[in-house]
Amino acid sequence: SELDRVLGGGIVIGSVTLIGGEPGIGKSTILLQLCGEVSKTKNVLYVTGEESVRQIKLRAVRLNVPEDNISLVAESDVDEICGLIESMKPDLVVIDSIQTMRCTDISSSSGTVSQVKESSARFLNVAKTLEIPTFIVGHVNKDGAIAGPKVMEHIVDTVLYFEGDKTLPYRVLRAVKNRYGSTNEIGMFDMTGRGLAQIENPSQVMLEGRPIGISGTCVACAIEGSRPILAEVQGLVTATGFGTPRRMSTGFDFNRMAMLIAVLEKRAGFFFNTMDAYINVVSGLRLDEPAADLSVAMALVSSLKDAVIGDKVLAFGEIGLAGEIRAVSHCEQRVQEAGRLGFQRCVIPFHNYKSLSKELKKELDIVPVRTVRDAFSALTVKE
Ligand code: TYD
Ligand code: MG
Repeated sequence: SELDRVLGGGIVIGSVTLIGGEPGIGKSTILLQLCGEVSKTKNVLYVTGEESVRQIKLRAVRLNVPEDNISLVAESDVDEICGLIESMKPDLVVIDSIQTMRCTDISSSSGTVSQVKESSARFLNVAKTLEIPTFIVGHVNKDGAIAGPKVMEHIVDTVLYFEGDKTLPYRVLRAVKNRYGSTNEIGMFDMTGRGLAQIENPSQVMLEGRPIGISGTCVACAIEGSRPILAEVQGLVTATGFGTPRRMSTGFDFNRMAMLIAVLEKRAGFFFNTMDAYINVVSGLRLDEPAADLSVAMALVSSLKDAVIGDKVLAFGEIGLAGEIRAVSHCEQRVQEAGRLGFQRCVIPFHNYKSLSKELKKELDIVPVRTVRDAFSALTVKE
């Protein structure tokens, strides 16, 4: 269901989907598991140019993937593969990966821009004519030695990216383009010893092991696609040992963090000019929404002042350059998610307050705030 959600409800007949991500993130794993599910009722063709048939077979056994209706072929000649698809007419095709595929009539080696473009065009053609849904793996690599998935994004129907810190077990599958559904929808998975498992309750997982009673942490509520997800933002502010203070940010935009610090100094009187400041969004999640501003700022101020933010309290809101807290979208949904996870107080933008339902206001302690200073006092108040 997590994959269905990202695809916009399920697999569309004749659609071509690109799954991009860094090597080792789990692209082959999720596609093999997908093949396993689909093959319960349909025929699947899995084409690999990366691993041997034996390797895939071993992995399939380990992942408990049923093998009856899956045909596996190790091949990298695009025309051979297209011919095979035409003669077999499977119900689903997986190409792993586009960078290993090669059109023999083009002289450049596989993985180059011209090969990747031409190969994907040919696969697309077959998929569209025979109306067979096709998944294509594309590796993203930072040094640019091989052509990345970017060169084929415009021709495919759906583009999904697999993200996550390889050292953490959580993986986020994100739709960045979808002709059949909304983008920015995410699916969350846990990489286990037996393949990827769906995370049904992401907020709970994101908040697991959260330190309680320590300064420098504040819970944020982000909207990812259509659902709210709570995440812990940690800030650390320490006296700087060098001339220029260091700023570092993981999971939050670096420039936005610099801007927030400037606002805190100029508008709220919290000074960081002789302080190093670090921000980390726990669990490898990226918070790109302006609504995360308030929790980032509060994590920093909490660490600066060594004031603990209550563990049943969360905050969201966009921070403007005048130090004002601006309204955000989906306020009700965010507050509901906070309530569902047992939070008792939500610090929200003042202008969002009147839109909230009476029931929610009764159920939770909702504190509307206009400025960063107000927010900070509302978060650290002891009951
Ligand atoms: P893989 O799907 O091969 O990555 P990609 O195709 O994107 O390059 O995933 C490889 C990583 O996943 C590898 O580091 C081992 C890990 N993994 C597990 O932890 N459990 C599993 O059951 C499987 C199949 C892989
Ligand atoms: Mg792979």
